[in-house]
Amino acid sequence: MTVTGVENDPLGGGLKRVQAEIDSVFDAFLPVPDDTRARLVEAMRYATIGGGKRVRPLLVVSTAELYGVDRTAALRAGAAVEAIHAYSLIHDDLPCMDDDDLRHGKPTLHKIFDEATAVLAGDALHALAFEILADTETSSDPFVRSELIATLGTASGMNGMAGGQIMDMVADEEGVEYDLHSITRLQQLKTGALLAASVEMGAILGKVPPEGRAHLRAYSRDIGLAFQIADDLLDVTGDQEKAGKALRKDERQGKQTFVTLMGVDKAREQARALVDQAVAHLGSHGEEADTLRALARFIVERDR
Ligand code: IPE
Ligand code: IPE
Ligand code: MG
Ligand code: MG
Ligand code: MG
Repeated sequence: MTVTGVENDPLGGGLKRVQAEIDSVFDAFLPVPDDTRARLVEAMRYATIGGGKRVRPLLVVSTAELYGVDRTAALRAGAAVEAIHAYSLIHDDLPCMDDDDLRHGKPTLHKIFDEATAVLAGDALHALAFEILADTETSSDPFVRSELIATLGTASGMNGMAGGQIMDMVADEEGVEYDLHSITRLQQLKTGALLAASVEMGAILGKVPPEGRAHLRAYSRDIGLAFQIADDLLDVTGDQEKAGKALRKDERQGKQTFVTLMGVDKAREQARALVDQAVAHLGSHGEEADTLRALARFIVERDR
């Protein structure tokens, strides 16, 4: 199975390269100890090495590249975001959440290990993300390190991923009826926040002052929304073999998404319009931003 997500790679190998690099970063961070913690670290390796598309690390690296940031530093920041993402998926798949058996074409972590190990592997990956960012190897500049930590912290917690996850979880409760505005908010938190943090962290490493990041924030707001619409479209129209996870679940589980609200065709139209808008925000950059442009297109055209 190709993990790039499309057969002919429009990203010119960019995603494949980052996939291999992030695998080796996690391999180096996660040596299995010779004691009874081994199961925890083996579970962390199971969730982080191989499998994911690595869209978030590629966003960090491609944004950092615009500003000439050292690739090793950008990959460390990318691995930090990916550690949060991997933890969010481990917990998302648990029986108390989406109750899924398949992820990245393999059994979910709690199926291979057990639920307690899955909870702890998520906890430990959450912590690992901030250990990586706090290390001087990521940046020698303490202001850069603290801004990276603050950005990823906000994107992960109640005003980010976890906040969006609870909105998603309560969607099937009686009396909870989301309109377009609330669905947008849900998606922006659940998925958009970590994607936006990835771009922001690339800019932080590049020491771009906040006032110089407005166009990047506009870009990532649009791709963040488009990304979750694409995920929800895949749930309805995708091929489970390619996606490597169970599909046709959202409606059954009472999830409220753009697709349940506006239907497949309108949702797809909306996702494509968002991508055009995202690309337009990069107008001030030349070909050095081509990977970010291709990534925006990939996000809606992907099949996994
Ligand atoms: C899946 O994210 C979960 C969502 C936030 C929609 P990805 O599609 O980026 O997951 P992997 O890591 O590439 O499998
Ligand atoms: C999960 O969204 C988002 C996070 C893990 C934060 P979904 O529940 O739609 O993701 P999949 O479809 O299981 O990958
Ligand atoms: Mg979910
Ligand atoms: Mg899920
Ligand atoms: Mg989904």
